[in-house]
Amino acid sequence: MPATDPLYTVRGGHLCFDDVDLVEMADGRATPFFVFSERRLRDNIEAVLGSFRRIHEATDVFYASKACSNLWFLGVVRDAGANVEVNAEGELEKALAAGFEPSQIVFNGVAKTRHEIEHAVACGVRALMVDSLYELGRVGEVAASIGAVAAVAPRIDVHVPTLTHPGLETAHGGKAGIDRDDAARAFVLAAEHPNLEPAGMHLHIGSQITSVEPYRQAIDAALDLVAEVEGAAGVRLRFLNAGGGFAVPYREAPVTCHPSDYFCSLLTAADYAQAVGGAVAARRPDLQLFLEPGRSIAATTAVLVSRIENEKVKGRRDGAGRRIGDERWVTVDAGFNTLLEHTNYAWYYRTIVASRAGEEADTDFRLAGPLCDGGDVYAGDADSPYRRFPAGTTVGDVVAFLDAGAYTLEMMNPYNARPTAAAYAVTAAGELVQIRRRDTVEDLVAHDVVPGDVVAGEA
Ligand SMILES: Cc1ncc(COP(=O)(O)O)c(C=O)c1O
Repeated sequence: MPATDPLYTVRGGHLCFDDVDLVEMADGRATPFFVFSERRLRDNIEAVLGSFRRIHEATDVFYASKACSNLWFLGVVRDAGANVEVNAEGELEKALAAGFEPSQIVFNGVAKTRHEIEHAVACGVRALMVDSLYELGRVGEVAASIGAVAAVAPRIDVHVPTLTHPGLETAHGGKAGIDRDDAARAFVLAAEHPNLEPAGMHLHIGSQITSVEPYRQAIDAALDLVAEVEGAAGVRLRFLNAGGGFAVPYREAPVTCHPSDYFCSLLTAADYAQAVGGAVAARRPDLQLFLEPGRSIAATTAVLVSRIENEKVKGRRDGAGRRIGDERWVTVDAGFNTLLEHTNYAWYYRTIVASRAGEEADTDFRLAGPLCDGGDVYAGDADSPYRRFPAGTTVGDVVAFLDAGAYTLEMMNPYNARPTAAAYAVTAAGELVQIRRRDTVEDLVAHDVVPGDVVAGEA
């Protein structure tokens, strides 16, 4: 049992999430499906807002909707007092549909089209984060063409290493942002352009950052740069956007966590607030602090419920092919079509056999997904390729994947023509409601076109 998370309990041998029996749920519906908790979502937002505002009152959270942009979810985020960060026109549309005012939205992205820029500027988003000197010119041109002034915040690569997965590092010489050597030039260009207002500076050092040290370095570097660019461009910035990246304890934490194990985190929102907010409050108390947390808001709000559909025993062999033991395999109905990060970043999600939650988990199993790829096999626990499940685990048992609320619904795909999953939520009042429907067969063929047919909206 995840001893550290009170949202999970056991009743009659079944795992419950926010007081809902996951096995009973699975018995009445097609698996896999997600279950979200409104209570947890509100708590997560309050933890970030409260911790940061205690240290730097002028802090605003722009929840990174790429982590989960489901409309019900966004509605709760808005109601809980957070704003929203969007990364493409579709996310902008979803944020507006969820009821956010344009002034509550910041627009990011590393390849914005002219059309997206025009839409964002015309609807009046709070600011556009700008990814390159080229893009700064493009935003200026588009703003001029519609007679608007766009508030911009150049995104600066402050060149700070982190110990997260290399695919999630974003401010250490990778593709995102403007080289720090060009920061002054970017702000001078923005200040000189009649249709641009250099309103702030943006940085985002990556996702699942399990140490505060990179934040300390990044904020220090950014505040140095703020002073430099203000001098060079003759402007006074209104905000510093420190991005997101706060880590989630995907692994049940041992007493000490090695910083290079990025699934293991002992940090709280208060620790990040101290490192990020503390530096801004000390050096530039006049600057508003914007944050863009996604994963740390969304991950612990949901569980994925799947079912075991196949099992087998195969030989474990040494290098010479000699059988040196047995391996028990179980295959669930959710693979990288449902949890894409499990293969593209070898992501680790804790799993519990929900239908045997009262039994001792003392036996090694290999855990696989249903897709035809050999790679659709879940990573094992910290020290082995195996998951520890109760010895009697078998076909028909229900398996829960914990902390499955971030970068999951967003990344689902219908590979092998498997329907993408439904999602439900336990509201703050304890009611179970559906918030996403599962694909139907009609959905699976809906995008295929008979050659010669006219396709709406396309040339
Ligand atoms: C610019 C930007 N802001 C915020 C985020 C959210 O990061 P996280 O979900 O780790 O908090 C991301 C995602 O990596 C991002 O690219």
